[in-house]
Amino acid sequence: MRVIERIEDLRAACDIERAAGRSIGLVPTMGYFHSGHRSLMRNAREGTDFVVVTLFVNPMQFGPDEDLDAYPRDIAGDLAAATEERADVLFMPSVSEMYPLGPQKTTVGVSSLTEGLCGRARPHHFDGVTTVVTKLFNIVGPSAAYFGRKDFQQLAVLRWMVRDLDLPVEVIGCPLIRENDGLAMSSRNAYLSSEERAAAPALFASLVEATEVMRDGERDSAVVEKLVSDAIGKNSLLDIEYVEVCDALTLQRLDEIDGEVVIALAAGAGRARLIDNVVLRVDGLLVEADLGMRIGLDPSE
Ligand code: PAJ
Repeated sequence: MRVIERIEDLRAACDIERAAGRSIGLVPTMGYFHSGHRSLMRNAREGTDFVVVTLFVNPMQFGPDEDLDAYPRDIAGDLAAATEERADVLFMPSVSEMYPLGPQKTTVGVSSLTEGLCGRARPHHFDGVTTVVTKLFNIVGPSAAYFGRKDFQQLAVLRWMVRDLDLPVEVIGCPLIRENDGLAMSSRNAYLSSEERAAAPALFASLVEATEVMRDGERDSAVVEKLVSDAIGKNSLLDIEYVEVCDALTLQRLDEIDGEVVIALAAGAGRARLIDNVVLRVDGLLVEADLGMRIGLDPSE
């Protein structure tokens, strides 16, 4: 695996691959790899010829009071993990390499989908994500880019951006990977105290409960949202930010549950802000739920 720090070197490496007719798979990350990141790398390895993993803690997507400086880092561990997953390149640019002139005058923004859910508490976050991902697309020229369904809103926003701007890349959504007790894997779980860590699986449990009442026929979003809030609210260590039933494509809140929907939530737990979701396809009495994969991937697999 080649470690690249300069944009021009990455562009040159990718140009050579494309000229030779090889497809490029892009896996954008902010590092501190866990099995969720690794599963994206595996999907990219299977789906494309040349795998570029990027590791950049993007200042543009953090608010002024957020955790940019505290964001967990483990370069040695990340190098080992990306090597094990057989990435061809790990791109690790500095902030001045990505933003040489400071804050950019040109940004990419997606309206509407970014206003609700996490966008309410993090008003400029998604502009930072769409701008940096567009830059990476333009540097790498991937035929496919891999994102996790854990960050459901991010994935929906990026899909919309690619469609609106006719970007020549396929956005591939990959399964949400969970710890064995159901907690969605996240680099930010490192912030949890042992008490908070013990409380955190209540988020997943509340989504399982919601899925069950929907299987029993409940179709009123307000009832489902209240059930999830009440289940989480029982735990004093979890501080609910939002629970919302939305259309999975537009992320608009639904009164009545039908079609492809997502139940998305965010909650504070000490210093950590946790998000989780379940995607449901509802067709009459039929409810098909995607709760993710509850197994930690064995790195030696
Ligand atoms: P980061 O939080 O590092 O996540 C990188 C990718 O890993 C994202 O696509 C995210 O959805 C995916 N991921 C994280 N946890 C996951 C889990 N438990 N299961 C499946 N996939 C998971 O998301 C970002 O970085 C940034 O916003 C980025 C897209 C890199 C732009 O800066």
